[in-house]
Amino acid sequence: MSAFDEIYDIRILTDADSEAVSKIMLEEYFIREPVTRKLELSVEEAKLSSDSVIQEAFKHQFSLGAFDRVSGDLVGCKINLMRKKMEGDASPQSTSAVRGVLKTEDYMQGLYLVCRKDRSEKGLGTELIRRSLELAEREGCKKFFTIAFSHYVQRIARRLGFTTVGETLFEDYVDSHTRTRIFCDIPEPHRSASLVVKDL
Ligand SMILES: CC(C)(COP(=O)(O)OP(=O)(O)OC[C@H]1O[C@@H](n2cnc3c(N)ncnc32)[C@H](O)[C@@H]1OP(=O)(O)O)[C@@H](O)C(=O)NCCC(=O)NCCS
Repeated sequence: MSAFDEIYDIRILTDADSEAVSKIMLEEYFIREPVTRKLELSVEEAKLSSDSVIQEAFKHQFSLGAFDRVSGDLVGCKINLMRKKMEGDASPQSTSAVRGVLKTEDYMQGLYLVCRKDRSEKGLGTELIRRSLELAEREGCKKFFTIAFSHYVQRIARRLGFTTVGETLFEDYVDSHTRTRIFCDIPEPHRSASLVVKDL
């Protein structure tokens, strides 16, 4: 049993956890993740952008939640999608864009990662990604990928042996609708969106 297991019950998320996931996404993800924070999404927009894909991920049963053993509260989660379980073309746009890079259909995609700022233990984000890699490997996936918008996730990915296969600096990104560099003033230390891949 790891130190994390003593403090947190880390388990697969199900439909019954929808409300808790929605709460942590609204309270901690959309207002702290560098890109969505910059977009200043309304609650409705935030829910619209994430709810359906999270529901899909619950069906795949590869998303993890860390629940505080004392309070029972959800303090962190990692939402993952399994390519093999995607029906038709219900996959998020980013998935089809990276398929050519991955060169396999046997992969898991890490979507959202969020940890409460006020949780007691450091390293929970790293642990949730590490356990997601274990899940993917156990399921026979050849690769695990994610698009890391946060400098902190890029750091975690490097430490866990991911390779950066694509990167767009925020200052270079031009929005196709407004033709402006909408992310150029995202505050440091966040600098880029990176496509990071781990061979399993
Ligand atoms: C990104 C996030 C999930 C990281 O979770 P975490 O539990 O803090 O992750 P870890 O404790 O494993 O820390 C990873 C590294 O980032 C650093 N870090 C994380 N948050 C930090 C902060 N606010 N300030 C400075 N460093 C920070 C840690 O010190 C650690 O660095 P190290 O590798 O040198 O030890 C969390 O910050 C979060 O929920 N952010 C808001 C949502 C978000 O941005 N999600 C990611 C989208 S790509």
